[in-house]
Amino acid sequence: MKTSMLSMFSLSLFLLLSLPSPSLSTRCNPNDRKVLLQIKQSLKNPTLLAAWKPNSDCCDWKEVICDPSTNRITTLQFTSANISGQFPPAVGYLPYLEVIIIRSLSNLTGYLPLTLTKLSHLRFISNTKTNIFGPVPSFLSQLKNLTYINLSENQLTGSIPPSLAKLTKLTVIHLDRNKLTGKIPN
Ligand SMILES: *[C@@H]1O[C@H](CO)[C@@H](O)[C@H](O)[C@H]1NC(C)=O
Ligand SMILES: *[C@@H]1O[C@H](CO)[C@@H](O)[C@H](O)[C@H]1NC(C)=O
Ligand SMILES: *[C@@H]1O[C@H](CO)[C@@H](O)[C@H](O)[C@H]1NC(C)=O
Ligand SMILES: *[C@@H]1O[C@H](CO)[C@@H](O)[C@H](O)[C@H]1NC(C)=O
Repeated sequence: MKTSMLSMFSLSLFLLLSLPSPSLSTRCNPNDRKVLLQIKQSLKNPTLLAAWKPNSDCCDWKEVICDPSTNRITTLQFTSANISGQFPPAVGYLPYLEVIIIRSLSNLTGYLPLTLTKLSHLRFISNTKTNIFGPVPSFLSQLKNLTYINLSENQLTGSIPPSLAKLTKLTVIHLDRNKLTGKIPN
């Protein structure tokens, strides 16, 4: 009797010690978590992202959506926050991203980064009421699944790239209230 209780005790101790950390119930993909924490750091740990902690499940974070079947991040949404810094190039390393919504971040600056071309699943990009600058990137034409582009109310300059006509699924494009010049392409 004594021996079996002792062995049950050591068995449960063994099970306890062999649990993977942080917890069995974490759905968050480790790569996605790493990238999201890089995004947080590159934006200088803003208040909006205070709940983004390494030991919490990124599928529970309010500013993202995980696909329930794959647990990969499919949506990133930052709205009306005191976020300052450059548009984080790390966003391009969330390979299952389909939707980006960034709105009313007046201290967000920088260019739309080239890393966005890695997001082959991207359907929807809205980056509005920020202070990003530079051109409307012609590289957006590589994202063949884009149906929606809203880049209104930023500081974008230059002309509208004719290559966007290659986006055969595109149904909406808003570029108003920037500093664009030139002709509207055929
Ligand atoms: C933008 O940054 C400036 C300087 O840090 C700050 O005073 C201002 O409140 C910020 N604006 C917003 C909307 O967060
Ligand atoms: C935005 O954050 C900056 C830096 O942390 C701070 O100085 C400023 O007061 C904040 N602005 C608002 C509107 O909260
Ligand atoms: C583009 O969309 C189609 C239809 O939704 C999908 O089957 C395909 O996998 C998508 N392509 C990429 C690269 O995500
Ligand atoms: C594009 O963004 C602006 C600013 O956030 C918004 O007012 C407008 O309704 C958006 N356009 C569409 C078609 O969603």
